[in-house]
Amino acid sequence: MGEDRLLTGIEGLDEIVGGGFPRGRVILLLGESGSGKTIFTNQFLCNGVLQHNEKGLLVSLEETHAQLSKEMSMFGWNLQDMENKGNLGFIDATPLRLLPKIVKVGNAEVERKEFSMMSLIDRINEEVTRLKPTRLVVDSVTSLTMQFEDPVERRFAVMELIAALESTGATCMMTSELRSFDPLRNVEIEEVLAHGVIVLQAMLVGTSYARAIQIRKMRETKCDLQPRPYTIDNEGIRVYPSESVLR
Ligand SMILES: Nc1ncnc2c1ncn2[C@@H]1O[C@H](COP(=O)(O)OP(=O)(O)O)[C@@H](O)[C@H]1O
Ligand SMILES: [Mg+2]
Repeated sequence: MGEDRLLTGIEGLDEIVGGGFPRGRVILLLGESGSGKTIFTNQFLCNGVLQHNEKGLLVSLEETHAQLSKEMSMFGWNLQDMENKGNLGFIDATPLRLLPKIVKVGNAEVERKEFSMMSLIDRINEEVTRLKPTRLVVDSVTSLTMQFEDPVERRFAVMELIAALESTGATCMMTSELRSFDPLRNVEIEEVLAHGVIVLQAMLVGTSYARAIQIRKMRETKCDLQPRPYTIDNEGIRVYPSESVLR
């Protein structure tokens, strides 16, 4: 494995992304609700700490510290303990969703969407300076980016976020809710701008559904486009890199 790859901590995944994620890049994890995005990204951070001695920063926009700690303890990941040892940082960004439509900043008034993006980026930079993480997760960006209805504004907001993440120097993952698997659905701007795109989906195989993971894009990587099966159990997510979903 080259110096330029970062082991993902997800069993079986490194094999289908050329030996690990390209370091310093921003990778988008897309999936429906319940597909395992939160487990996946926490595993990326926790195994970074436990297996590779790398610090991680978790920015949570949907679940509070208490909720996540409880859920992740089921996989044997003790978030609080990693935080106490200085290996994990946690930013609870859930209050951003509760902001009023217009926010007062000193004498000025700022729209919520502008304010939430600015203040989130400021908080991330503050925590990155303190902790110096090599892995960073934003779970999820949906509530943030969906505030921008105008496509041009939205494009700039996503560009700003990706640029901010990239400038941290960490290998970053951001998750986003997939609302439709229709092949003709609009491609979201996050997919266009991220350096890598991974999709988690349930595929109909015969008469039953199977969980499948597909690498849609990965810069600097000769990647495997075949959807591969993955499972979730009490050790987290496991990918089966040489098995096929489509029979
Ligand atoms: N211990 C476990 N064993 C098997 N499956 C689990 C376990 N814990 C959670 N899950 C599955 O994980 C899913 C939730 O994963 P999560 O990462 O929260 O999804 P998302 O963030 O994409 O909404 C649930 O649908 C559940 O089926
Ligand atoms: Mg989630």
